[in-house]
Amino acid sequence: SSSSPATTRSSRRRRVLMFPLPFQGHITPMLQLAGVLHAHGGLDVTVFHAPVNAPDPSRHPAAYRFVAVGDGNEFAAEAAALIPTGSYGDFPAALMALDALLRVPFEDALRRALAAEEDEDVAACLVVDSNFRGVQAVGERLGVPTLSLRTGGACCLAAYLAFPELCAKGILPPDQLQLDMPLTELPPLRLRDMVLSTTSSHATMATCLERILDSSRCSSGVILNTFNDLENSDLEKIATDLNVPVYAIGPLHKISIGLESSLLTQDRNCLEWLDKQETESVLYVSFGSLASMDREELLEIAWGLVDSQMSFLWVIRPNLAHGSQRVHLPDGFEEAIRGRGMVISWAPQQDVLSHRAVGGFWTHNGWNSTLESICDGVPMICRPHFADQMINTRYVQEVWKIGFELEGKLERETIERAVRRLMCKEEGKEMRRRAKALKNQARISVEKEGSSKTAIDMLI
Ligand code: UDX
Repeated sequence: SSSSPATTRSSRRRRVLMFPLPFQGHITPMLQLAGVLHAHGGLDVTVFHAPVNAPDPSRHPAAYRFVAVGDGNEFAAEAAALIPTGSYGDFPAALMALDALLRVPFEDALRRALAAEEDEDVAACLVVDSNFRGVQAVGERLGVPTLSLRTGGACCLAAYLAFPELCAKGILPPDQLQLDMPLTELPPLRLRDMVLSTTSSHATMATCLERILDSSRCSSGVILNTFNDLENSDLEKIATDLNVPVYAIGPLHKISIGLESSLLTQDRNCLEWLDKQETESVLYVSFGSLASMDREELLEIAWGLVDSQMSFLWVIRPNLAHGSQRVHLPDGFEEAIRGRGMVISWAPQQDVLSHRAVGGFWTHNGWNSTLESICDGVPMICRPHFADQMINTRYVQEVWKIGFELEGKLERETIERAVRRLMCKEEGKEMRRRAKALKNQARISVEKEGSSKTAIDMLI
């Protein structure tokens, strides 16, 4: 584009280009980051997005530009077919296939965006999801500096960094009989916590992780949705190992307030219901946007919750039951929970977790859920499914001591015991006290001169 002598490249307004992975748990932090860069840094924003799980521009500042990558229904169907629908899909393979599919039309879209740069507005950088190594390489080829957004915790990236070493030592791929072996290289993780997906081959997982690490190493900086006081030693490890700047700028949802990027409609009636419940009396139960389970497990959860005698708010997503679009709750369940239980299909989770009535969270430990729980001082029952969730669970239980894993087969008696342990036993109260201390540290980190606030200023 032409720039007159008066508007040199450095004096022009800066635009940040972003490309999130099209999953709820990745779109949310990317758009929260956009909100922070726009509101605190005065940066203009362009969001490139896949034709599936597209964000809704009407929920974002009018100044943002949204650019759909790839044309036509056929392309959109191809992208949609790659979105895994539950815990049983080959997740790493799907991530790489999406990256490969999207990077081709992204090149055109990026060229057009760069050609249309106006005199007063220049692309400062491209922020990609760290699973988008191919997309990122397009940016590099076209001369745009890149930043890599890790939507998981520092604990996860630190563990992924050790993956090649564990392979070289012959510890991975794992011996199935040794899955409970503690990893001396990565305390408090066990061998099983490094198996990202039980349906994926070792070679696929290794390639997927290699690409994530490449994305970090090839970037001008890695951005993490976490805060120093929570993950200090892993953040230091990452910075030393990667040799690029590392920005811990979370919890993003406590900085980028008022933004709602949910793909499903949130049932806000549950907040009124929570208003009527006693303080810290309700267990919130939700397994994020992707995890799924079979029908028998859902039935055990239903009766375990009933038998616990505790109040609960349970999110049953339409596709939570593996291979089905509807969940049939057992006969007698609704009468049994009347007054003390509520079932909804999607929650305004951040508002739920910050509600005074919520005293515990039974979660799959996706990073967003884990961080949201920590930042509202809510202790957890952990039931991880895949990817980083097992790693997050270990940290919740062993490092922060703000929850515990519900292991083994899901049965109503063990569920009942776990719920009571968290909600009414002294042990659960201690976990809640520790969670509240972390909540306080999270709050301080985003205040003036807090570590995350400072990192955001540096990033901008
Ligand atoms: C995925 C992976 O599973 C996770 O391991 C990875 O760290 C991020 O990507 P997801 O499974 O959806 O994410 O879990 P999570 O990271 O917890 O994100 C779920 C998001 O959906 C949270 O921000 C949560 O607030 C929101 N949510 C969840 C709702 O708004 N309503 C709900 O009812 C449930």
